[in-house]
Amino acid sequence: MITPIDFSGKRVLITGGAGFVGSNVVRAVYDAKGEITVLDDLFTGDLKNIDSDIKYKFVQGSVTDEKLVNKLVKNADYVAHLAARNIIVSTKNPREDYASNIGGTLNVLMAARENPKVKVVYTSSASVYGNPMHLPISENETPLTFSPYSVSKLGGENYCTAFYETYGVHVSVVRYSNVYGVKQDPANPYCGVVSKFVEAISDGKTISVHGDGMQTRDFTYVTDTVEATLIALLSPRADGMIFNVGSGFEVSILKLANEIGNALGKTPKIEHIDRRDIDNIRRRVLNIERIRSRLRWQPRTTLRQGIQKTVDWWKESR
Ligand SMILES: NC(=O)c1ccc[n+]([C@@H]2O[C@H](COP(=O)([O-])OP(=O)(O)OC[C@H]3O[C@@H](n4cnc5c(N)ncnc54)[C@H](O)[C@@H]3O)[C@@H](O)[C@H]2O)c1
Repeated sequence: MITPIDFSGKRVLITGGAGFVGSNVVRAVYDAKGEITVLDDLFTGDLKNIDSDIKYKFVQGSVTDEKLVNKLVKNADYVAHLAARNIIVSTKNPREDYASNIGGTLNVLMAARENPKVKVVYTSSASVYGNPMHLPISENETPLTFSPYSVSKLGGENYCTAFYETYGVHVSVVRYSNVYGVKQDPANPYCGVVSKFVEAISDGKTISVHGDGMQTRDFTYVTDTVEATLIALLSPRADGMIFNVGSGFEVSILKLANEIGNALGKTPKIEHIDRRDIDNIRRRVLNIERIRSRLRWQPRTTLRQGIQKTVDWWKESR
């Protein structure tokens, strides 16, 4: 049986709740009757991402603020920890990344140690795998940290495991593949490839593809990612564990562009640029067997359905 997503009577702290995935977490927790506090410094987030019908408490501040994090975690039953500097910021400024992604995560865990009832879910990234030896990538693959971002995301994970083993903190890690869908705003310079392609192809602009475009990724629709995250947050069976969260399907960037073109009724114009990208990984697809068997989660949205939903949302929100 899948864990029912029900937060009735529970206080849920969502760090990074004004961001792309975080605002979708806010939606889902609110629909599941949770009492929500969002902590966000609005670095890439925007309160516009949070649907206007949702009641929540907003605290503008940083996860690097130890006192603030202590206070908020003390008043929570659950913490969904999504706040992070993204890969672009991190590549430009590894110190900033270190402070938020590792330091901020340590603050959350230190506060959780003082509040043994609280359960934390930490959102990590498939970037910790680098260029993997085996596909699809299982959680047992040896991490290869090729970017400062992957170092910090893995650092956060390692603290989670250490705090579980050493202090018994209830914490789970979810490693996301590429997430896409509603609220991923192409106006945000840090947004993912799906939204960028949707906007550019729709406007008849040429899209830039690194190398031959045959590099692959595993794209997960955001509501599926959010569901997996909340099941890991709620299920005691997830404590102390790391779970891949992906679609389990490998899609090349060229195929992605064509699928988006089909949904928009346009033929993508593509220019191939130099091979190097900041996320310079040839192939990535996640093995999702662990989360499927242990937490009974599996993605429900096909790539085609997800792209259609993204295109529809984007047209409405323009
Ligand atoms: N989107 C993806 O494809 C993807 C893939 C792998 C992992 N992730 C992880 O998922 C989480 C959410 O990512 P997202 O795509 O929604 O990114 P996002 O940039 O849209 O959201 C991050 C949010 O955290 C906030 N934030 C950043 N630093 C902060 C700080 N120091 N204190 C408080 N708030 C801070 C930002 O303002 C933003 O609202 C991140 O932890 C990210 O590493 C995302």
